[in-house]
Amino acid sequence: MPFQIAIDGPVAAGKGTVSRIVAQRLGFLYIDTGAMYRMAAYLAHKNGVSFEDEGKIVELINNAQMEMENPDEDEQDGRLITLILNGEDVSWKVRTEEISQGASIVSTHPKVRQVLVEKQQQIANGQNVVMEGRDITYRVLPDAQLKIFLTANPEARATRRLLQLQLKGFDVTLNNILTEINERDERDMGRSADPLQIVDDAWQLDTSNLEIEEVVEEIVKKAKELQAKNNS
Ligand code: DC
Repeated sequence: MPFQIAIDGPVAAGKGTVSRIVAQRLGFLYIDTGAMYRMAAYLAHKNGVSFEDEGKIVELINNAQMEMENPDEDEQDGRLITLILNGEDVSWKVRTEEISQGASIVSTHPKVRQVLVEKQQQIANGQNVVMEGRDITYRVLPDAQLKIFLTANPEARATRRLLQLQLKGFDVTLNNILTEINERDERDMGRSADPLQIVDDAWQLDTSNLEIEEVVEEIVKKAKELQAKNNS
């Protein structure tokens, strides 16, 4: 039986960084599902298709080759994952504000979600994984042995995101980021198709006053305890 860790949470709660390190420590596969919605938005943008055009976006996804890989040695530029879309490295191109908002819009479409959830379930099938997103705990991996809702207050999230983006040379301010975070959170939680929600059996972890390393340690400890219990 594979051991699966499902992590949901709002924008910039630290899901990516935490999931990546937890996966490394446990030797599990890390899957960033937000990256797939971002690639869908990038495809739409590149092809001049509106983020609202559900049918065309599904068609673009169905004809696209989306690859997610661990960064190589020559790709150690702060990225958590390397994204290759139809042969093009889009790892950073999907992190702009425009594509972030686009991903949030594209992800409101039920048919887009259906196609991407299916892909996510295929990738995770039979594997030990740490998978993060918005609907992982109840839609993509409802049988995950460890479910986590990772969150932090808006100020902590905005400050972390600001540092990350400034390091990459993006021209952003704290105010821009707070506005973006609020808009995306409202859309991600308010949509009718599989909105972000806290399931009853999720462990709620508020990271506002914790260092990344502390969050990682807590999760790894819990995962090891559960794994030992399952194996006994
Ligand atoms: O995690 P992220 O910020 O990279 O995700 C980008 C957008 O994709 C986010 O605003 C909502 C959407 N998303 C989703 O609807 N379901 C997921 N499982 C992951 C992301």
